[in-house]
Amino acid sequence: MEKVDWENAINIRRSTRSFQIRSLEMETMDRLQSFVNDMRTPFKHDVTIRIFKANPNKKLYTAFTAPPDGAAFLSKTDACSISATGFVGEMFVLYATSLGIATCWYGHYTLAELEQIMPHLGVYAQLSTNPKWGYGKGMVQGKRAICITPLGYWRREGVRVFDRMQESLISFKRKPVKELFEGNIDVDKLPPEIFYGFDLARKAPSAANSQHWRFTVSPDLKKISIAMPVGYKHVKWEHPDVDIGICACHFWLGLTSKGVSCDVSLTEEKGRAVWYFKLE
Ligand SMILES: Cc1cc2nc3c(=O)[nH]c(=O)nc-3n(C[C@H](O)[C@H](O)[C@H](O)COP(=O)(O)O)c2cc1C
Repeated sequence: MEKVDWENAINIRRSTRSFQIRSLEMETMDRLQSFVNDMRTPFKHDVTIRIFKANPNKKLYTAFTAPPDGAAFLSKTDACSISATGFVGEMFVLYATSLGIATCWYGHYTLAELEQIMPHLGVYAQLSTNPKWGYGKGMVQGKRAICITPLGYWRREGVRVFDRMQESLISFKRKPVKELFEGNIDVDKLPPEIFYGFDLARKAPSAANSQHWRFTVSPDLKKISIAMPVGYKHVKWEHPDVDIGICACHFWLGLTSKGVSCDVSLTEEKGRAVWYFKLE
């Protein structure tokens, strides 16, 4: 896998909702595809990343005109697969960011339009229960596109009001590390490399910037978990386990870039995905 400055990618990534209507260069496309083929993660998963061509209209994203390129993150729809999608998708998003490509995690894409430009539903294409936005709710059969992202170049002129608002009000408005723990943790006593992991973790993107990840640390500082609170629900976002996987990805990148080895596991507990990091 190519060497990437992950910290820099995390710090410069923003959700972009205004794009130039031009395709990615062939070389960039090849690098993205190679990254997908060679990506290594510290856990097993069955997430697929598919790069697609979109029509230059507002059907897919509604809020903005689609640039010609995009990527879809597909998996089964149990809590762990959905969370693994967040982890794997974020590796891809951050790699794309490192190549200067603008992205936006997108859950509420128009399903019929995605199926038209990137057929993926197979026998489930004609279901009367297929929703308008995203793949739907809860567990369904087969693999679905959990989220998608545009891949393109930011269009500075004519930036939409929403984009400007995002930049000034939402992007990088994140809770401090100390507000994200369950249990009593003296943040000042955390080893610097673990604090660094948490600091990258808190910068993860989440739907509507809800930042619903919570951390636990065992007394010997060897076992760390990342999950949403039991029973957490978001009024508009049906798959908050995706965001937890994104956060876990940032944490893992932080630990590994500081040379901390750990065993990563993902389990479903009390109806939500829980990521465990066992430090060696
Ligand atoms: C899993 C996920 C789904 C998202 N879905 C949408 C979406 O459907 N529409 C949208 O405009 N933004 C969507 N976003 C973007 C968030 O609004 C954005 O990440 C958040 O406000 C933080 O801003 P930032 O990404 O610029 O740091 C999504 C983000 C995540 C992580």
